[in-house]
Amino acid sequence: MTTYVTAALDKARADGATPPELAGLRRRLEQLADPTAGQLPGESLEPLGDLPRLADLPEPDPARAREVLDRVAVIKVNGGLGTSMGLSGPKSLLEVKPGHTFLDIVARQVLATRQENAARLPLLLMNSATTREPSLRSLRRHPDLAEQAAALPLDFLQGREPKLRASDRFPIQWPARPELEWCPPGHGDVYTALAATGTLATLLDAGIHWCFVSNADNLGASIDPRIATWIADEQVPFVMEAVRGTAADRKGGHLALHRGRTVLRETAQVPAGDPSFTDVSRWRFYNSNNLWIDLRALRDLLATQPAGPDLPLIVNHKNVDPTDSSSPAVLQLETAMGAAIGAIPGARAIEVPRTRFAPVKTTDDLLVVRSDAYDLARDGRLLPTFDGSGPVVTLDRDHYRHLSDLARHFPHGVPSLRECESLEVSGPVTFGADIVIEGTVRLTGPKTVPDGERLT
Ligand code: UTP
Repeated sequence: MTTYVTAALDKARADGATPPELAGLRRRLEQLADPTAGQLPGESLEPLGDLPRLADLPEPDPARAREVLDRVAVIKVNGGLGTSMGLSGPKSLLEVKPGHTFLDIVARQVLATRQENAARLPLLLMNSATTREPSLRSLRRHPDLAEQAAALPLDFLQGREPKLRASDRFPIQWPARPELEWCPPGHGDVYTALAATGTLATLLDAGIHWCFVSNADNLGASIDPRIATWIADEQVPFVMEAVRGTAADRKGGHLALHRGRTVLRETAQVPAGDPSFTDVSRWRFYNSNNLWIDLRALRDLLATQPAGPDLPLIVNHKNVDPTDSSSPAVLQLETAMGAAIGAIPGARAIEVPRTRFAPVKTTDDLLVVRSDAYDLARDGRLLPTFDGSGPVVTLDRDHYRHLSDLARHFPHGVPSLRECESLEVSGPVTFGADIVIEGTVRLTGPKTVPDGERLT
């Protein structure tokens, strides 16, 4: 009898999925059949004790830093489609500073660290079919990276899986646009994709022992030689950079102890009616999605577990056409790469400052990094220009959710936010040119803020 499990596997097989990809998909489909799989009720968890802190790690001597960094690859996960901001392609190609996209800034950071340490430090993107071509085309703007391509690839492709019809979980058919029948299976796919594409073997053959993986939209994730040498010296198979939680992290994935092991708990793993998730003061440490992986340990793990680390399932509810909310509802089966902390024996976490965790998830975040609250340094770092904790921007989701909304409401560029503590905007407000926002400002539309206005 054809079940939704066999139907999805057959469709993926016919699409050319490799054995590790099929093993991963089978695991996700089986987890879907058991709604309690991967669930972590609050009462089964204990908070973590203190973590080792980046601030306490010694600065390595230059020769040691060079030796280790020469064996590190930088991987940026770049396969997502930025749908929350209304995009249908790589978020990393958005302009952050005039003439500089996320990807340009990442390239600048990697090239600066390479030069400073005289290390190879290859940069690889994990792309999906949709993000590959535009992202690689954009990287061609950096000739020094093109040189790398002669020895090591600039990217590898993550897998794709069938979207499942929400009504009966069978793979959806969408003949009008068959490419919409597929989706990337979340950034947890990085382990499978490294293996399935042969990239893991290529990197190991080139003497690369570790990789530093992070979100393409987190410009705080620069390469820190102290962590690189720490993971090498301590021989840790997997390290997650964790930040101290603030109220803003309530919805983020937190760390906890589960049966003596450090685990990541995402909101999808919280049983219905369990209020424990948002208790920032109890859980304290949150995932930055900056991960350091010993590739030799990953190779050994994959030898016994071809589907990769056993990651809990995240079911994402979407429409088959993400731009059309009246199109049929689908399920996308995803995993999160940080969850490997609970699936790799010996994995550890390290506390890092918040500056290393600056992902751009919303148009609010984008407005802040685009503003004069941050300057772009020559080495690609974004340097805060404010004193204190920096501007908090809250734009109402009805009017400002999408990138096109920002363009419409801020047609003359971003106001000065250097002296801003908090900006809250609700309703349609159109901002003129050269506006300065200071302190705490609340605006309610409809209204137009004239050119040159100073709001305090
Ligand atoms: P997010 O889920 O935050 O961003 O992924 P997104 O996928 O770009 O945006 P939405 O959710 O559609 O709005 C965090 C990072 O993980 C990558 C993204 O490219 C981003 O850098 N990612 C996500 C992948 O590489 N593959 C995936 O399947 C999903």
